[in-house]
This record gives sequence, C-alpha cells and structure tokens, in this order.
Amino acid sequence: MSQKRPRILLISSRGQVGWELQRTLAPLGEVVATGRNREARLVVDLANPDSLVQAFDEVRPTLVVNAAAYTAVDRAESEPNLAEAVNAVAPGIIGELATRQGAAVIHYSTDYVFDGASDCPYREDDKTAPAGIYGRTKLQGEQALLESAADALIFRTAWVYGEHGQNFLKTMQRLFSERDELRIVDDQIGSPTWSRMIAEATAQIASQLKMEPARFGERRGIYHLTAAGQTSWFGFAQAILKNSESDCRLLPIPSSEYPTPAVRPAWSVLDNRKLKETFGLALPDWHCSLQQCMAEV
Ligand SMILES: NC(=O)c1ccc[n+]([C@@H]2O[C@H](COP(=O)([O-])OP(=O)(O)OC[C@H]3O[C@@H](n4cnc5c(N)ncnc54)[C@H](OP(=O)(O)O)[C@@H]3O)[C@@H](O)[C@H]2O)c1
Repeated sequence: MSQKRPRILLISSRGQVGWELQRTLAPLGEVVATGRNREARLVVDLANPDSLVQAFDEVRPTLVVNAAAYTAVDRAESEPNLAEAVNAVAPGIIGELATRQGAAVIHYSTDYVFDGASDCPYREDDKTAPAGIYGRTKLQGEQALLESAADALIFRTAWVYGEHGQNFLKTMQRLFSERDELRIVDDQIGSPTWSRMIAEATAQIASQLKMEPARFGERRGIYHLTAAGQTSWFGFAQAILKNSESDCRLLPIPSSEYPTPAVRPAWSVLDNRKLKETFGLALPDWHCSLQQCMAEV
C-alpha cells in the first residue's frame, strides 16, 4: 500500500525565505503556499486568526512552515499592534492549531531578540533583551509557540539577503548605480545570511526528521541558523561592491550618524553550535555564500 504524501503548509511564499522554501520543500511533500491577496491559492493573513483556522482545515498539514512575519523593523515602532498580532500572537495560534492536528511546525526568529551588548556569539539560551518592537514581538512569538505543545523548531537567523524580496544586497546594488559615494554604518556587527541557505538547511532538517512530527518533538526548541563569520554593514557593502562593476566610494560611519526609529543591536553574532551538534549542519562562511548568490543573480 502506498504511503500518503505529506502535506506542507507554507505560510507565505512571497518573502525572501518563503520564496526559496517553495523549491527546497517540494521534494518532501505537497507544498501549499499561502499569500495575502486574493490571487493566492490560499489566503492567510496572520493578523486574522480565522484565516489560519481555515488554512489548517483545508490543508490538514503534516508540517507547517511559517516564513511570514512583520519584518519592517523601523515601521514596527509606529505600528506596534500590527507587529504584535503578526509576530507575537499568530505563532501561538499556529502552535495550537498544529497541536490539535498533530502537525510539526518550523518557525523563524531573529538575532534582534538580543540587545547586542555581548562580544561573544550568542547561544540559544543566553539572556534575551530586545531593543525594539520588532525584536520584542518576535521574542514573544517564540515564547507563544513554545508554550503551545507543538512539535516546533524555531530557527533564529540574521541579516537575510537574496535574489527575491527587499534586502541590503539589492539596496546596495541599486544605490551603486545611482550614487558616487555611500556612507555605511560600520559599528553594527552580524552575519549576512543567504535566504537560499536558510531554505536548504530547513529542508535538510525536515528530511532528516523524516517529516514525522514526533521526531520534530524530540528536537523541539530554538536553534541559531546563520552563515559563519561576521562583518559590519560597511564590510558587507564592501564585499558586494567587490563583486559589482561599480566605482562607487564607500565611507564607514558610526550608527550615530545614521539614526533610525528602531535601535539595532550593535553586535548580534549567533553561535551555531547547537545546530551542528543536533543536525550535523553548518552554513558556509558569509563571503562564500555572497559570491555564489551574486554569481547567480
Ligand atoms: N530579513 C531579515 O534580515 C531577517 C533577519 C532575521 C530574521 N528574519 C526572520 O526570518 C523570517 C523570514 O524573513 P524574510 O526576510 O523572508 O521576510 P520578508 O522577505 O520580509 O517576507 C515576509 C513575508 O511575510 C509576509 N507577511 C507580512 N505580514 C503578513 C501577514 N499579516 N499575514 C501574512 N503574511 C504576512 C509578507 O507578505 P507580503 O509579501 O504579502 O507582504 C512576506 O511574504 C521571518 O520570521 C523574519 O522575522 C529575517
């Protein structure tokens, strides 16, 4: 007798990570991806819990991958209620619905749950202290998901870039062709991480766990998932420039010369050891991934 093919509910295939996940998850089951507008096959608005209930009822998933989030870090400061509904409340609802239906959950979170005062890579159980609304609501979402009994894995990632969606790489590429000189913040340190690497690691882990929720349950918890190495936004911009045909001049500046509504952590490098020890996975150095990404785009 043939086994039923797993069904994967991918909440939003429109963002950077979600777009890559459509392809990497496809060999593991039937992927049903959601969007926010009526053109989507299945509409899910995380600020509207009813739409989540309907999606779960329709798909009856084996695995739910939530790639949607309110990611506008600065705008969140003036839209805290919406950021909270999407980032803090919805993950708990996803957890409850998944528990009810016996589905596993994969969810993403952020380095912005930390305040950036450390100078050695953050471990999963280090003290969190988000500086802004985005980080605070993402942290609440982690907690809400873990408080549900769901067989859930949470991957905290950082500084995501890629071919699809809005990100620093694409902004730099545009500005390099428009400007002769750019001033870039040099005192915030993190690990630029290619969306494709996140999606590939996600699929490898789901495959290792044989798409069986109970196996996810054995490994439930938070994992740091970023590229190896670290740099500043200025260093990131320099590396992009090196791989571009532009003679734009880059000037390093302190964050104090580039004020933003939300405060960012000054140093948010994540320690990926737990991911390596648990799943035998390590993402490549950010330089290598960037080169590969830029060669393909
Ligand atoms: N971007 C980063 O640098 C970064 C860093 C650390 C962690 N993360 C985390 O990684 C995950 C993936 O991020 P990403 O960079 O792929 O994000 P992204 O490119 O900004 O995409 C976010 C997605 O969420 C969807 N979305 C927003 N509000 C929604 C709502 N109310 N209902 C349903 N969908 C909604 C968006 O849909 P529309 O396309 O319709 O707007 C979009 O598809 C998120 O959990 C994020 O917090 C990202």
